[in-house]
Amino acid sequence: MIDIRNLNQQTGMFTYDPGFTATGSCASTITYIDGDKGQLLYRGYKIEDLAEHSTFIEVCYLMIYGVLPSAKELNAFEELVVSEMMVHEKIVDFYKGFQSDAHPMAIMVGVIGALSAFMHEEFDVNDPRDREHIAIKLVAKFPTLAAFAFRTASGLPLVRPKKKYNYIQNFLYMMLANPMDDDFDINPVVVEAIDTIFLLHADHEQNASSSTVRIAGSSLSNPFACVAAGIASLWGPMHGGANEAVLYMLEQIGSPDNIEKCINMAKDKTSGFRLMGFGHRVYKNFDPRSRVMQKMCYKVLEVTGKDTMPLLDIAIKLEQKALQDPYFIDRKLYPNVDFYTGLVYKALDIPVNMFTVMFAIARSIGWITQWSEMMAEGLNKIGRPRQLYVGPPVREFVKIEDRQ
Ligand code: ACO
Repeated sequence: MIDIRNLNQQTGMFTYDPGFTATGSCASTITYIDGDKGQLLYRGYKIEDLAEHSTFIEVCYLMIYGVLPSAKELNAFEELVVSEMMVHEKIVDFYKGFQSDAHPMAIMVGVIGALSAFMHEEFDVNDPRDREHIAIKLVAKFPTLAAFAFRTASGLPLVRPKKKYNYIQNFLYMMLANPMDDDFDINPVVVEAIDTIFLLHADHEQNASSSTVRIAGSSLSNPFACVAAGIASLWGPMHGGANEAVLYMLEQIGSPDNIEKCINMAKDKTSGFRLMGFGHRVYKNFDPRSRVMQKMCYKVLEVTGKDTMPLLDIAIKLEQKALQDPYFIDRKLYPNVDFYTGLVYKALDIPVNMFTVMFAIARSIGWITQWSEMMAEGLNKIGRPRQLYVGPPVREFVKIEDRQ
């Protein structure tokens, strides 16, 4: 048996905090969460106000510059972002190297990381203007590369961005348009829904993927490579993959009659199953984003037809049942943003394997703003947690010929 106290004496004092539940890793001015109240602010503005009156691109401006733009500034900013949506033709060659059944998130880890090969030397990461350009380029190119990932995985020809579309329209156009059609008609409610989802996911302080980007960036790596690390972290079902997992769970439940069985399974620690879209490290109350998403769900179903309605019905009943259950009450487990996101995507006919990719497009602004904020501090303190060593103490080495 190892004497941990003894080992600690050898390595000095530090806090043992698996999952960093009580460790603040940085000071930040970007996003504020009050987990007890269920409040979320971007640069001081309430998420509900932004969701109602603002757009994703306006939030990108707010993230980068710290203030809301005038109408003129916003137009100029969106024009600039759209003009940057084209990607280097050589990056298109990367897509030919992936298996046809590759998950688009796997492709995204690769191609966003590959941007570092195209944009490296020309930037001075200590110059705020250069960091601003890096942020704009990342946010602009992300939907293009995501749409290409989807079309590659679906065996479809790539579609390039067009000046006449705004940011969200361009993404939907590149992902869903038939290149043989002259026009791409898209319902404004669909554009609004995607815009709202992106806005709600833009940043969420020191979550797993943003912390990953910061840790990668703390060694002064290329920012696009750091964001690729963030995408890898987002992919899992405990984080960004939850929206895909929720939909799968609701489909498996299949009928309100099976809700109780599902809840019992989630409460049983030996089942290895959790209620997907429920619980949050910081929110110990409703995630304010889940309320906006629930409303959006109804709005989208109004225009796209009702075939997702049975799943929404299961979701609402599941939420009601869980919120009355002492297991969920005691642990303060409430629906998080992703409980309803998958349903909206499904109602919009967005392919399931794109759900987490779309989360990544939205979070690209949060990741790069977090990175930029860290670089602006200029402290260059490398992210380097300690560990509690519980392995064997010093052992005598035995030469191979002398081993039994
Ligand atoms: N279903 C059932 N039980 C749960 C759930 C859940 N969804 N979430 C937490 N619990 C239980 C845990 O088993 C634990 O119980 P215990 O105290 O009896 O051991 C307790 O609640 C605390 O859970 P932790 O895992 O310690 O909480 P943590 O803060 O580490 O995890 C997380 C948060 C990962 C979000 C977790 O709630 C979870 O796995 N949820 C389901 C996945 C999900 O929806 N992820 C999306 C997160 S939001 C986002 O990334 C956009």
